[in-house]
Amino acid sequence: IGQIDDVQELRKARPATIPERFVRDIAERPFVAKPSMHIPVIDLSKLIEGDLEQFHTELSKLSTSCEEWGFFQVINHGIDKDLLQNIEKVATEFFMLPLEEKQRYPMAPGTVQGYGQAFVFSENQKLDWCNMLALGVEPHFIRNPKLWPTNPANFSETLEMYSANIRGLCKNLLKFIAMSLHLKDNVFNEMFGVAVQAVRMNYYPPCSRPDLVLGLSPHSDGSALTVLQQAAGSSIGLQILKDDTWIPVQPVPNALVINIGDTLEVLTNGKYRSVEHRAVTHKYKDRLSIVTFYAPSYEIDLGPLPQLVDENRPCMYKNYNHGEYSKHYVTNKLQGKKTLEFAK
Ligand code: SIN
Ligand code: FE2
Repeated sequence: IGQIDDVQELRKARPATIPERFVRDIAERPFVAKPSMHIPVIDLSKLIEGDLEQFHTELSKLSTSCEEWGFFQVINHGIDKDLLQNIEKVATEFFMLPLEEKQRYPMAPGTVQGYGQAFVFSENQKLDWCNMLALGVEPHFIRNPKLWPTNPANFSETLEMYSANIRGLCKNLLKFIAMSLHLKDNVFNEMFGVAVQAVRMNYYPPCSRPDLVLGLSPHSDGSALTVLQQAAGSSIGLQILKDDTWIPVQPVPNALVINIGDTLEVLTNGKYRSVEHRAVTHKYKDRLSIVTFYAPSYEIDLGPLPQLVDENRPCMYKNYNHGEYSKHYVTNKLQGKKTLEFAK
């Protein structure tokens, strides 16, 4: 990624027009959105320590959210708000470093680790108005320690603590998701083995023409679950596709946004949906999101759970190896739900 493709540098240079590589074809431009709809909010404390009635009400809300939205926000998730603040702080400090400093951690082509623009494979592909720092976190063998920033000094320590907390949240959510499907509560956590966890920090500088560009191309996630933190004070930028309409996700203070990834869609035989989403930019405000992808261990073979296949819901996906799917995902550009065709 050259200096010219780095959107923070581009923003500083203030060119009179947006470079062609960022200008979307008309059909892709972000002018439709329905701000009046809100994604569901799940209160995790009601699932963990609520009375029986609260538990069942919340569990059925969870199942509707996963079936109809593929997205929800979780409140009372138990993660300390200082920790949420700290991860935002170290991420912001990193993105504000001079380009030369950030380029000490370059993202190699065909990987999603390091600083740069991921998912770029050809000269004529449109670029997203976003700088990313992506890092493998768990298990340790997926880490590339050379790509973990040493500046700010507490970056690694903070990410470590944050990731451990998010991991606990994912395990809890998977337990309740299994229960909401009338499955044994440990079915996913047992099957996943030592789960793979990766983080991606996305920084979207303001853009003089938010109507022409996208912060992040439409895609579904390859994970089982994704946990997305929208930094406090950021512009509203995440949009999800519901019934052919793009709906903005209004940040709820201290909530985390959860979405179902392709892997859970396959495992649930399409009952729970991995929904397409994208990010848009803002004319004056910047935006930071911190995204954790949680997925099975690479050696796991998976496909629709037999319990969720019957004559009313015939098997929609083949069995495949999760590591191969992950590889397929990171070596293709983001394009709606296209990567899931791998499983068909
Ligand atoms: C993502 O889908 O990975 C990030 C979207 C966002 O920045 O909200
Ligand atoms: Fe995503």
